[in-house]
Amino acid sequence: MKIGIIGVGKMGGAMVRGMLKANIVSDSHIYLYDHHQVNLEAIKTLYPNVNCCSSESDVLEKSSVVILAVKPYAISKLVSLLDHCTNIPLVISVAAGVSLGDLTSFCQSDVKFVRSMPNTPASVGHGVVVYSMGQGTNIQDKFLVENIFNTLGYALELPEEKIDAAMAISGCGPAYMYVILDALSDAGVSLGLTRTEALTLAAHTMEGSAYMQMQTGQHPMALRDDVTSPGGVTIAALNELDALGLRHALISATRVAALKGKS
Ligand SMILES: NC(=O)c1ccc[n+]([C@@H]2O[C@H](COP(=O)([O-])OP(=O)(O)OC[C@H]3O[C@@H](n4cnc5c(N)ncnc54)[C@H](OP(=O)(O)O)[C@@H]3O)[C@@H](O)[C@H]2O)c1
Repeated sequence: MKIGIIGVGKMGGAMVRGMLKANIVSDSHIYLYDHHQVNLEAIKTLYPNVNCCSSESDVLEKSSVVILAVKPYAISKLVSLLDHCTNIPLVISVAAGVSLGDLTSFCQSDVKFVRSMPNTPASVGHGVVVYSMGQGTNIQDKFLVENIFNTLGYALELPEEKIDAAMAISGCGPAYMYVILDALSDAGVSLGLTRTEALTLAAHTMEGSAYMQMQTGQHPMALRDDVTSPGGVTIAALNELDALGLRHALISATRVAALKGKS
């Protein structure tokens, strides 16, 4: 398998590193192109055998799978290059808001596309990637795509009509979590903890709570009840969160994000 990546910025770079770290492909089977030499050098320093190509078309010709990790506005021009290729690779797009229908419309050739939406924790191997397989793709393609995405964290195939909803949770979600972490660390500082103490406690608590829910499979409200003694401090804090509308704010924000993703 020869994997090409066009656009080796934040997401493309995270994907290359994830695949090479997980050893699903050798560095000599990776083909990269980016406008910025510095992005290529950053990978080449760690993995000297990766191939830095001379153009987008060079990557398309040499690869059996190509990941397009450029900004959404740059996708149509890139996809149109496939019309001049003698070798047509499987194409994975990570561009937000670019549908499978859009991708197909940008070229005349019979190309198999995959639409995906990773999130930033993918850069440390704990991301979430949701994806939809396009027309003409088969079970081998799906296996291959899963293999790539699993190196970034958790991967979930969804029908394309659910991608905007998923994006509003897992794509934007890291931002919601960081705001919560920041607020908790501010609270800790106001109560006399150092910033580091407060932030570390908050981050480990967030990680541990999510891990416990995934391990036990229990409903979050059942787990919440386990922390909530009658007349205790946690229920007092939860009453305050309810009064201030935390649940409503999270639900409303996520719905706004999904609607914006559609427009
Ligand atoms: N970062 C995230 O958290 C995230 C999450 C989910 C999805 N995504 C998606 O991932 C894609 C990339 O985002 P990013 O944050 O990684 O952007 P980025 O850091 O700006 O990386 C994109 C890189 O691709 C280069 N590029 C653009 N057009 C190119 C072309 N035709 N050939 C070669 N290189 C080209 C860019 O150069 P120039 O700057 O010169 O254009 C830039 O170096 C976007 O479509 C975004 O929607 C990102």
